[in-house]
Amino acid sequence: MSKIKPSQGAPYARIMGVGGYRPTRVVPNEVILETIDSSDEWIRSRSGIQTRHWASDEETVAAMSIEASGKAIADAGITPEQIGAVIVSTVSHFKQTPAIATEIADRLGTGKPAAFDISAGCAGFGYGLTLAKGLVVEGSAEYVLVIGVERLSDLTDLHDRATAFLFGDGAGAVIVGPSKEPKIGPTVWGSEGDKSDTIKQTESWEAYRNGAPDKFPAITQEGQAVFRWAVFEMAKVAQQALDAAGITADDLDVFIPHQANERIIDSMVKTLKLPEHVMVARDVRTTGNTSAASIPLAMERLLATGEAKSGDTALVIGFGAGLVYAATVVTLP
Ligand SMILES: CC(C)(COP(=O)(O)OP(=O)(O)OC[C@H]1O[C@@H](n2cnc3c(N)ncnc32)[C@H](O)[C@@H]1OP(=O)(O)O)[C@@H](O)C(=O)NCCC(=O)NCCS
Repeated sequence: MSKIKPSQGAPYARIMGVGGYRPTRVVPNEVILETIDSSDEWIRSRSGIQTRHWASDEETVAAMSIEASGKAIADAGITPEQIGAVIVSTVSHFKQTPAIATEIADRLGTGKPAAFDISAGCAGFGYGLTLAKGLVVEGSAEYVLVIGVERLSDLTDLHDRATAFLFGDGAGAVIVGPSKEPKIGPTVWGSEGDKSDTIKQTESWEAYRNGAPDKFPAITQEGQAVFRWAVFEMAKVAQQALDAAGITADDLDVFIPHQANERIIDSMVKTLKLPEHVMVARDVRTTGNTSAASIPLAMERLLATGEAKSGDTALVIGFGAGLVYAATVVTLP
């Protein structure tokens, strides 16, 4: 018989608070048209995007995370010292080590929480949320701060017609803590590494070892292949998450898909046969695609505008570079 004492966590976990930060600078499509041959009409009709935010030098990954986290902590009604783990999901923090989570944890005035970064592209928030739920239920942390943050403007080739208009910057954060009832459903997640070439960074950092290439790396994608995969495969994953939570589309109040492209969102709404009453996040219109930050940013905005309310049942699904995905049903904080 094992001599090891079992760890003791909470029966269940929930999202207790959410916060977001969008950089001050709002960038309309007109600015994008300075570097690519396109039109405002084309960008709006193909992606839904009208404006996005680009970070200034001062709006670093850490600075944006701290702003979003401060709001999430206040919203959850806890203090920074109570946080037992900090998980930062990002692909646009440019130091391999140490993890930016440690600096963020320190600057937030937490105690000595576990702190680490994860890389799961646009599914990063769902991955972080799933880890956080596990930590709370397993007992390794009572409260977990999950941050999705990106400065994708640093990784955008403004001359690439397939991506120049897509990406934006920002940070979203949630506090995950104990619950007496299940308020984060089972996660349906996975990866399809055979498609890893469809969204990727152009140059690896390795290329800089022997003298810098003349261009900073950027994210490229095979737009149509990603679009088809998202539309056909991700609707199935979203349905599996509903099934795993034991609910149907009729039971949903809110749908918060990754804000990649409004046409992907429309297609998923149709395939899932979401009823009229379900509020659908369309934050992509004014925030663009902020990868790991997109779901918590959209969640925060829906709650702030009153389009969604605390206690609503929401389906969240993220998908992107890897290719990776994660879908879960949650109760909104
Ligand atoms: C990027 C995306 C909007 C492009 O839309 P699309 O309909 O697939 O566009 P295509 O690449 O097939 O090009 C269609 C036409 O538009 C043109 N075009 C491409 N980019 C253009 C641009 N920025 N402006 C104007 N025209 C453009 C092409 O030249 C092509 O013209 P043609 O028909 O005369 O040959 C779309 O593929 C997409 O959203 N993909 C998923 C992106 C995404 O969400 N990625 C992140 C996932 S995490």
